[in-house]
Amino acid sequence: MSLIDEIDHLKEVIDDELNRIFVNKTGYQEKIFQAMKYSLFTGGKRIRPILLLKSCEMISGSYDEAIPFALALEMIHTYSLIHDDLPSMDDDDFRRGKPTNHKIFGEAIAILSGDGLLNLAYEIMIENTILFSKNREDYYKFLLASKEISKASGIDGMIGGQVVDILSDSESIDSLELEFMYRCKTAALIEAAVVSGGIIGGANEIEIDNLRKYGRCIGLGYQIRDDILDIDEDRAINKTTYLSFNSLETAKEKVEYLSKEAKLSLEIFKDNNITFLEEIAYYLINRNK
Ligand code: IPE
Ligand code: IPE
Ligand code: MG
Repeated sequence: MSLIDEIDHLKEVIDDELNRIFVNKTGYQEKIFQAMKYSLFTGGKRIRPILLLKSCEMISGSYDEAIPFALALEMIHTYSLIHDDLPSMDDDDFRRGKPTNHKIFGEAIAILSGDGLLNLAYEIMIENTILFSKNREDYYKFLLASKEISKASGIDGMIGGQVVDILSDSESIDSLELEFMYRCKTAALIEAAVVSGGIIGGANEIEIDNLRKYGRCIGLGYQIRDDILDIDEDRAINKTTYLSFNSLETAKEKVEYLSKEAKLSLEIFKDNNITFLEEIAYYLINRNK
C-alpha cells in the first residue's frame, strides 16, 4: 500500500471510531454534540492519531489497544483549535475552508464544545485503561500513555505554547522563546502521539527516547514548514515566525536537517517495519500545502 493509500485508510478507521462515540448521544444538551462533531469532522488530517496508531504497530505489530488513545488525542487537538479560533484568541472566521465553530454555534457553545472534547478525551482514556488492563503492568502502561498525552496538552505543552503565542502578539519574543513556543504548541502533541503509541505497544526506555526524538523533529519541522508555506499570506506578516530570525534558505535547511534526524531516530528499530514512519516523516516535513 502506498503512503497516501495507507493514510486514507487510517483516516477512515479513525473517522468510523469517532462516529461511534456519538451514536445514540441525544438529550437536552444535543447542541453540544453537534458542535463537537462539527469540528471533529471538518477535514482534519488526523496526523496525530495516525502517528499514534502506527508507532504502536511498529513496536507490537497491532494497534487495537491504541485506538481509544488515538481518538482522545484527536479530540484534544480539535478542542485546541476550537479555542484557538475564538474571538479572544486568534479571532478566525474560517478553519479548513469552513466557518469556525463559534461562527456556527456561537461563542458560548464553542467554548463548551472545546471543554466537552477535552473532558471526553480523558473519559475515554480512563475507561479504556480499566477495560483493557488485565494486570498491574497493563494499568501502568496505559496510565503512562495517558500521562504522556495529558502532559503534552497542558501548561508545559500545548497550552504553554499557546500562552507564549498570545503574549507574542503584544510583545516581541526572541528566537529561544519562539523555539519554546513551537516545541510546546505544535511539537508536543505530535511527540506525545508517537511516544504514547510506543508505550502502548510495549516499547522499552531506549526505544521511547528515540520515538520522542523522532516526534520532536517532525513536530518542529512541521511548524517551520508551515512558516515557509505561510510566507505569501498576509497574516504571517505581523506574526513572529522562524522566518523572522532566519532566511528562507536557512529555514529550508533546518527542515531538511530535521527530516534526516527523524529518520536517524528510527535506526534502532530497523528489525521492525519502519517504512511508514520513515515515509510520513518526510511527507509531513516536506509537504507543499
Ligand atoms: C494545525 O494542525 C495546528 C498546528 C498545531 C500547526 P494540523 O495541521 O494537524 O490541523 P488539521 O487538524 O489537519 O486541520
Ligand atoms: C494553533 O496554532 C495551534 C494550537 C495549539 C491550537 P496557530 O494559531 O499557529 O495555527 P492555525 O493557523 O490557527 O492553524
Ligand atoms: Mg490560530
